[in-house]
Amino acid sequence: MNSMNNPDLPDYVFGDLQLEWLMTRWEKYALNSLLEWIKPTISLEIGTYRGGSLQVISRHSNRVISVDLLDEPKQKLSRMFSNVDFRVGDSTSLVPRLIEELQGQDDPLNFVLIDGDHSTEGVRRDIESVLKYRPKAPMFIVMHDSFNPPCREGMLQANWASSPYVHYVELDFVPGVYFREGFGTVRPGSMYGGFGLAKFEPNPRSGELVVGQGHLGLYEATYRDSPLYQTADESGKRSNERITWGQIKRCLRPRTRLRKLFGR
Ligand SMILES: C[S@@+](CC[C@H](N)C(=O)[O-])C[C@H]1O[C@@H](n2cnc3c(N)ncnc32)[C@H](O)[C@@H]1O
Repeated sequence: MNSMNNPDLPDYVFGDLQLEWLMTRWEKYALNSLLEWIKPTISLEIGTYRGGSLQVISRHSNRVISVDLLDEPKQKLSRMFSNVDFRVGDSTSLVPRLIEELQGQDDPLNFVLIDGDHSTEGVRRDIESVLKYRPKAPMFIVMHDSFNPPCREGMLQANWASSPYVHYVELDFVPGVYFREGFGTVRPGSMYGGFGLAKFEPNPRSGELVVGQGHLGLYEATYRDSPLYQTADESGKRSNERITWGQIKRCLRPRTRLRKLFGR
C-alpha cells in the first residue's frame, strides 16, 4: 500500500507516528487535536490492534490502559510505550472490572476510545460498561465507526440515559466514509469510519439527553447507494428498515449547543 492507492495517505503531520493506524486521515487529525485539548490524566483504549491510535493516545496522556482480545499487541508493543498498561482479554469481562478499579483511584479517567468488537451487541456492551463510571472530571468517549451500520445501531441501542453524567452524545461528530469500489481488503459498498463523541461531567445533567445524528442525511443517502440496502430490498424487507423511526425522530429533536458544552 502506498500514498497513490491509499486514500488516507499522505497525512503530512504524522510522519513520526509509524505504527499502522486504522483510521482515516481526518479521524487522525480529529483524534490528535481532541487529545491535545483534553490532556487526559488516564485514558482507556478498547481495541489496541497494531498500536496506531495508541501511539497518539499515549503521547497526550499521563497513563493509558489498552485492552485487546489478543495477546499479540501486548507482545509487540509493550516495550515501545512506557506509560501504557496492556490488558489482554475480552472487553465484555475486562472493561467492567477496569471501570471498578479506576473508580477506586484518585486520578480521573478523562478519555475512552471504543474500537474493539464491531458487532452491534459488542459496541452496545462496551459503551454500557463505560457508562457505569462516575466521572471525577470531564470525560470523553470517542466511538469509532459510527458510520458502519452495525456499530451505529449499537451506539443507538446503548442506554445513554442510564448515566446522569452524560451531557452530550453525537454520532456524527466526525462523519464516516463510503468505499463504493472497495479498497484493499474492504469490500465494495462498505460504510466505515466516523467518530461518535460523548461528553461526561461530574455534575448530573438537567433536562433530556439527545443522541444527536447531525449527518443522518449523509448516512441515509450512502446507505441507499450501498449493497446493504439492496440486499434488504431483495429479501422482501422494507427497504428503509435499517434506518429506524427512532433514528429519524432523535435527529428531529432540538440539538444541544456545542459551545455551551465545550467552552471552558
Ligand atoms: C479495528 S481494530 C483497532 C484499531 C486501532 N484502534 C487503530 O485505530 O489502529 C479492533 C481491535 O479490537 C480487538 N477486539 C475485537 N473484539 C474484542 C473484544 N471483545 N475485546 C477486546 N478486544 C477486541 C481486535 O483484536 C482488534 O485488535
